[in-house]
Amino acid sequence: MTESLADLLITGGTVVNETARFPADVAIKDGVIAFVGHPAFAPKAKNTLDARGKLVIPGAIDVHTHIREPGMTHKEDWTTGTRAAAAGGVTTVFDMPNTEPAIATEEALAAKREAAERQAHVNFGLYGILDERSLDHLPALAKAGVIGFKLFYGNTTGNNPAPNDGAVLEGFEILAELGLRCSIHAENSPMLFWRENRMKAAGRDDAFAHLSARADIVALESLNRSIVLSEWTGARIHIVHESCMRSIPIIRDAKARGVPMTVETCPQYVLIAAEDLVGDKGRVARLNPPIREGRQREPILQALLDGTIDILGTDHAPHAMEEKQRPSFWDNACGFPGVETSMRLMLTLVHEGRMTMEQYVRMASAAPARAFGLWPRKGVIQPGADGDVAVVDAGARGTIRGAELHSIRSRFTPFEGMETVGRAVATIVRGRIVMQDGKVLDAPGWGRMERPAMPKPEPRNLATTTKAILRPDARPW
Ligand code: DOR
Ligand code: ZN
Repeated sequence: MTESLADLLITGGTVVNETARFPADVAIKDGVIAFVGHPAFAPKAKNTLDARGKLVIPGAIDVHTHIREPGMTHKEDWTTGTRAAAAGGVTTVFDMPNTEPAIATEEALAAKREAAERQAHVNFGLYGILDERSLDHLPALAKAGVIGFKLFYGNTTGNNPAPNDGAVLEGFEILAELGLRCSIHAENSPMLFWRENRMKAAGRDDAFAHLSARADIVALESLNRSIVLSEWTGARIHIVHESCMRSIPIIRDAKARGVPMTVETCPQYVLIAAEDLVGDKGRVARLNPPIREGRQREPILQALLDGTIDILGTDHAPHAMEEKQRPSFWDNACGFPGVETSMRLMLTLVHEGRMTMEQYVRMASAAPARAFGLWPRKGVIQPGADGDVAVVDAGARGTIRGAELHSIRSRFTPFEGMETVGRAVATIVRGRIVMQDGKVLDAPGWGRMERPAMPKPEPRNLATTTKAILRPDARPW
């Protein structure tokens, strides 16, 4: 009977979840995993995908990408960005709100959603921005389904000014009651601008000046402030692109006290050393926060492996080539594409025995799903979960080439020439194959907007919130 047929049966592979590894066929029906188990019991399906000798893992969820549409489509758009994701085994991307316009209102969100729904090849979540102009819009943005919010303490592309700390406190009070997570770019803008201007006045314009402007202290101060405000208000936070080994004990302490925080790092902070970034390499690799001294890499990797750092993101930040080749380092655009190369780079560490496949699945899929209210619908291969899957050939060798990236207006990468072992050979989004053997199949509009289902909000110190003290009879006791 045709109605009992599954849509897709992935046969002969080895399933790897964060906590287990076992041979199993996986059937997907109506976008949802319907069966995981012995081939003898597998349902029949309209299509099959042969995964013999391959690993079958939950598709990666990249909680930190900049897709650029609307407003900056000369860098990237929803078609190119989500094709790049599909090419890299990524089944869900979260898009940052520093587009043009920034996502500060329901109208801006609706326009971005329309552009994404029309083009996306993979699922997507959309962030709203937390800043001085968006405070009144936070509940409406939450209702409209944002995946979370983003706070730019550190200035970066889009020049969204860091909000005043009074506004951040009020914003966190509101978010604590909504329960949504706030991703934070934790760098201190006044410090970094001050140092940048001092160096410019002194005539510095070299590959290492950018790192000096944004030295460890710039990140540490902002991390500590973020923690204090989260701990006080109960707002859930996510520290994006952690790059600094001195942050690790601070994060451990905060988590041990019950601060509702998660933390992310990206492949570039684990794999690249600032010392190597001379000349044009420095231009390509310029990003915020900067790639730091080589000795910081191993402690960051170890923190990622032990779970102090929860999540592997990418900060996929495409730019047009000419924006990355300006004569002055200070004018050079910050960021580079990463969504397509992340899984290959990390699987190479698995191949080298520096992490396990199960650890990779945790940081790339399970932990992101848990942090942003998608677990257990995503992040795990089990019946009832969405059929978002990457089929991995753990032994596939290759070399990263910017010229081959699917971010076609942004074909440069600081990983140029790196040899990798292991890659996704198929990407499946809600049961539909969107990439096979390196070829991205046309699936515009297949990507679905993901809304978070967060645990019950746990706001703190409600007697002294900005809203509470507006009442004339308000007292802190
Ligand atoms: O280098 C960066 N570029 N860091 C960020 O945090 C944002 C990103 C961008 O949007 O270009
Ligand atoms: Zn970013």
